[in-house]
Amino acid sequence: MVIGILREPDSENRVAMLPGEVSAVRKLGIEVLAEYGAGERSFASDNEYIGAGALTGSRKEVISKSSFLLTVNPLIAESLDSFREGLVLCSMLNLAENTAWLESLRMKGVTLLALDMVPRITRAQSMDVLSSMATVAGYKAVLTAASLLPKFFPMFMSAAGTIRPAKVLILGAGVAGLEAIAISRKLGAVVEVFDVRSAVKEEVKSLGGRFIEVEGAREDSSAGGYAIEQSEDFRKKQQDLIQQRAIASEVIIATAQIPGKKAPVLVLKDTVSKMRPGSVIIDLAASTGGNCELTENEKTVVINGVSIVGKSDFPSEMPSDASKMFGSNIINLLKVLVDRNGNLVLNLEDEIIKGTVAVHNREYVSQRVRQILNIK
Ligand code: NAI
Repeated sequence: MVIGILREPDSENRVAMLPGEVSAVRKLGIEVLAEYGAGERSFASDNEYIGAGALTGSRKEVISKSSFLLTVNPLIAESLDSFREGLVLCSMLNLAENTAWLESLRMKGVTLLALDMVPRITRAQSMDVLSSMATVAGYKAVLTAASLLPKFFPMFMSAAGTIRPAKVLILGAGVAGLEAIAISRKLGAVVEVFDVRSAVKEEVKSLGGRFIEVEGAREDSSAGGYAIEQSEDFRKKQQDLIQQRAIASEVIIATAQIPGKKAPVLVLKDTVSKMRPGSVIIDLAASTGGNCELTENEKTVVINGVSIVGKSDFPSEMPSDASKMFGSNIINLLKVLVDRNGNLVLNLEDEIIKGTVAVHNREYVSQRVRQILNIK
């Protein structure tokens, strides 16, 4: 198999695989072809790719000579004419926005492995790019909040007196939220946390956060570790309690999401108006509508002195490690995708492969894709 690594669009600094991971892929018996400049914005040169055992070429050459095209972002801007039948694309899919594109790939007979559909089971943890990118986002969210906040994060005892530590409120203790708790604690802040999944309570406590429970949350064990939508009554109770805690804090890091749905609105306009001027809200759910009513995606707005940062592309701002983690996840995925000679074998009996293959042989395969598209 020949894997082609393409240069991402200008708005993206990551690359799907850095030279450091290319050498490991070569050991699986796979050839690697990288587009000129593919790693440039992640600080990796063409010579480093060559040194790791890859060949380099123009975009056209990479697309025509590869059997497996690897990218971070879906290749929606690429002309469909450049894809031949049987070609395998492997990238994030972001299905909600790209259903028409997926349908055209299906009709063309192109296979798509959707990295954001990798099932959330223990065996697939090392292949989960969503977790890797959420880790980067959680880390960067805290650093961004700390640099915008007009005060210290840690408690300070100096000759000029004692400074009390910053109070951070974290909404959603998934992968990004847990990382945000850990980094906020390392910087010395006092941390309070909300989530609807009771399973995270112990994790929050072990990281030094205080878990605030709202009674009556709906949970569904068949949701694959994800949260589900809550009742109107619960939402009201939660918004009231969040308002109380938000007024007492200076930083909110909002990460709450429900797959395939709009993010829950947890911080109301009224809550923002009651927060202390100078406070900071980092909303990582911005691209799915935001957890704060006033969030604008990819913008920072200041309302009553409160900065609200709507951000979904933190991983692109830390491209070296984000790309390294992305590439390592791909290597682990490739280990279940290829045989001893490095040839692709799509065993659809394997739960991981079946869940990840969005379209193959002109059919929708992944159960989650079929569910979202309402296909019986
Ligand atoms: P996510 O990005 O979908 O959501 C973030 C967090 O927001 C979740 O913890 C969710 O419970 C919470 N949330 C949703 N609605 C909320 C509301 N109304 N109020 C407060 N919080 C709310 O989740 P993420 O980070 O992608 O993963 C969620 C979980 O999935 C992980 O904590 C883990 O248990 C599981 N997981 C399993 C993996 C595996 O086994 N391979 C890999 C990654 C995650």
